Amino acid sequence: MQAHATLAEEVRRGLSAPAKSLPPHLFYDEEGSRLYELITELDEYYPTRTERAILERHAREIVALASDADLPLHVVELGAGSAHKTRLILAATVAAHGPSVYLPVDVSASALAVAEARLASELPEVRVRPFVGRHEDAVETIAALGPRRLVLFIGSSIGNFEDDDAVRLLCAVRRGLAKGDALLLGTDLKKSPKRLVPAYDDARGVTAAFNKNVLCRINRELDADFQLEHFSHVALWNEAASRIEMHLESQIAQEVRIGALELTVRFSRGERIHTESSVKYDLPRVDALLRRSGFAREESFDDDARLFSVHLARAQAP
Ligand code: AVI
Repeated sequence: MQAHATLAEEVRRGLSAPAKSLPPHLFYDEEGSRLYELITELDEYYPTRTERAILERHAREIVALASDADLPLHVVELGAGSAHKTRLILAATVAAHGPSVYLPVDVSASALAVAEARLASELPEVRVRPFVGRHEDAVETIAALGPRRLVLFIGSSIGNFEDDDAVRLLCAVRRGLAKGDALLLGTDLKKSPKRLVPAYDDARGVTAAFNKNVLCRINRELDADFQLEHFSHVALWNEAASRIEMHLESQIAQEVRIGALELTVRFSRGERIHTESSVKYDLPRVDALLRRSGFAREESFDDDARLFSVHLARAQAP
């Protein structure tokens, strides 16, 4: 009931504004999560496999850097994450510290259940303590773990936030940590739009289906009548903001009725709904983000082609 009210409010706000937008977290219903898994395996979409390769190569070093020899290492993850990438860090943690605690934080109870079941069979030395809720709501539970903590925020999910919102989120996380605890942050790096745009507009149309799925969700959950064939998927590079943007572009002048909101939304031909931004970082931007949030970058790990970077940052004194 609460989730429904939130969806309704967010859709009303986004589609009533002069520049229409929808928040990207609305992508991830069951079908959207399935499509996102397919995206991560596309030839054009390099971030997931590149980050995985970086973690395969550096997991032990990362865990060693995050650890204090006298203390256990508790691993927290924002977003349930792909079990494969997380497992690399957890396996290195178990190798260094023996049985360890893993606290994945996610709004989706089913995503957490999948992660927990996988780990139970693959890494039984890890005690999984799932937290269902928003990242900000987990702060006290993270604090109660005690030192030392390693917080994973990988997958470049940070890039889907505006910088100020990213800082707000990381500041909240910092409040659950002690000086010396570690944050592992995955960021996609700035590169040629020739490489970036196809990653968000793949030849098979999986990303287009992922983008349009948000309209299916609004049709189903808010009794709307979006006709998908009258919207097209647009992925563009915004150089000034150093980000890929995804939009849904109305192909005709049209009206869409959203029954549950008692709202009629008018679109002119060519008008767009901004559905996602995905920031592509350079080091100064990463450093600024971390500094504003109470962390300092200690080490970065890249792939040879410098497509993606994983940063180990240390919580500073408040
Ligand atoms: C989840 N997030 C990091 C993805 C990204 O690359 O920004 C979401 C995505 N959107 C389209 N393709 C992937």
